[in-house]
Amino acid sequence: MIDAHCHLNFHAFENDLDEVVKRAKEKGVEKIINVGTSLESSQKAVELAEKYENLYAIVGIHPHHADKLEKGWEDELEKIAKHQKVIGIGEIGLDYYSYKSNGIVDPKLQKEVFEAQINLAHKLRLPLQIHNRHAGDDILAILYRHKNSLLETPGMFHCFAGSRDVLIDALKFGFYIGFDGNSTYSGLAPGETVELPELIKMTPLDRIVVETDSPYLTPIPHRGSRNEPSYVIITAEFIGKIKNTPFEKLEKITTENVLKIFKI
Ligand code: NI
Repeated sequence: MIDAHCHLNFHAFENDLDEVVKRAKEKGVEKIINVGTSLESSQKAVELAEKYENLYAIVGIHPHHADKLEKGWEDELEKIAKHQKVIGIGEIGLDYYSYKSNGIVDPKLQKEVFEAQINLAHKLRLPLQIHNRHAGDDILAILYRHKNSLLETPGMFHCFAGSRDVLIDALKFGFYIGFDGNSTYSGLAPGETVELPELIKMTPLDRIVVETDSPYLTPIPHRGSRNEPSYVIITAEFIGKIKNTPFEKLEKITTENVLKIFKI
C-alpha cells in the first residue's frame, strides 16, 4: 500500500516521526509521499525523503500560500524540485472556499501561481498533484489551456470532492483520483452536493488512488485525533467495500495506479 498524499513534513509530526513511519511500515504501507504547500514545507518534504528510504516528496505552493510569495519563488521551487526524490509538483490548484483560518486568496493570483507551476512541471517532466476546492471548472479550464504541456499520464486530483461533471472531465483528461479518510464521514461536507461514496462508485478502480492527507481528515473510527499514514489501510478497506472488491485486490490495483503516475 502507498499513502499517495500526506504531510509528515508538518509540525504535527515533529516529535514522533520515527514511530509514525515505523507504524506505517508495520501495517503494510511500504511507501509514503509527502507533499509541500509552501517553499518551506516543500524543502522539508525533500529532507524527509533524504532521511527515510521509503519516503518521497512532491513540492509546490498551495493556493492558500499564493499571496505569501516573494519575488524569485519560481527559481527557489525549481531548485527544490530538481532533487532526485521529488516525483511531482503539488499540491497546486485553486481553492475558492472560505475557511475560518484562511479567507479566499485573490483568484487571479491563485491562477498565476497555479499556471507558473504547471509550466515548471512541464519543464521538469513531472506529473501534477492537484488541490481543488469549489474551483473545479476553473481548474479544468486552465488544464485545458495547458493540455499540450501535460504528460501522457498528467497526474492526480488529490482528495477529490465536487461535482460528477468535474469528476468525469478529470477522468477524461487522464487524471487519477485520490480519496481520503473523509470518505468515511457520513453526510455532505460544507458546500458539497455529492457524497464521496457516490463519487467513489463513479470512479473506475484502475483510476483510484488512496491517500491520508495526514495530519488531517482522519478516518472513522479515529476521527478527532491526528491522522497518520498507517490509517490509509482503513480508507482502502472502506473503498473496497463500496467497490465490492476484496482488500488485497484493491491494494494491488491502487498501488499500481500510484506507480503509473509517479516514478517511484
Ligand atoms: Ni494535503
